[in-house]
Amino acid sequence: MNTSDMNETIQTILGRRSVRAYKPDQLEAGALELILEAGRYAPSAMNQQPWHFTVIQNLPLLEKLDTSCKSVFMESDIEALREVALKDGFTVFYHAPALIVVTGDSAALAPQYDCTLAMQNMMLAAASLDIGSCWVHSVMMFYATEKGKGLFQELGIVFPEGHKPFAAAVFGYSAAPLPEPGPRKSGDVTIMD
Ligand SMILES: Cc1cc2nc3c(=O)[nH]c(=O)nc-3n(C[C@H](O)[C@H](O)[C@H](O)COP(=O)(O)O)c2cc1C
Repeated sequence: MNTSDMNETIQTILGRRSVRAYKPDQLEAGALELILEAGRYAPSAMNQQPWHFTVIQNLPLLEKLDTSCKSVFMESDIEALREVALKDGFTVFYHAPALIVVTGDSAALAPQYDCTLAMQNMMLAAASLDIGSCWVHSVMMFYATEKGKGLFQELGIVFPEGHKPFAAAVFGYSAAPLPEPGPRKSGDVTIMD
């Protein structure tokens, strides 16, 4: 099927790319509100909506967090991660002007799925507004360490009681044309009719 024959929603889903180079411009307030609203409308187990959205747009704070998360990559047991982090000019947040961390109530039924779905809604909403995004897993890896948890508190990033981060992504206006999609696997469908 030709992309121009598809409706806008499908075009947005197929056209979203992970963006790894950002303009310094902050998200327009109206756009951020729409993105968050899209997150709130994600499905959640028993409609518990166990999420909380922490939006960090303070650039010095993002810079500090970036450096700390990078150190987790550098010390990782995973060789590929260490290699990436050691590359010249590597940044965790790609100089994006906004980081959204979705935390969930650990006591909820399925907070990991709920928060991930909320994040996916936000990334697609952003794409529909020509705003780029990229999931950044290192935030969760960093928070999982004692050092990381401590640093979040030191930096004044405090999540609601009983919450833990399940999804984190940066958002901003892409500084470059979107990359072509990576190849998609085939043979991943079984239809039984
Ligand atoms: C669970 C998860 C963790 C990811 N972690 C990172 C990350 O730490 N840094 C990064 O640049 N991209 C990260 N990504 C983005 C993937 O690399 C990206 O989605 C994938 O290569 C497909 O490219 P696309 O998003 O442009 O379709 C992550 C994606 C997911 C779903």
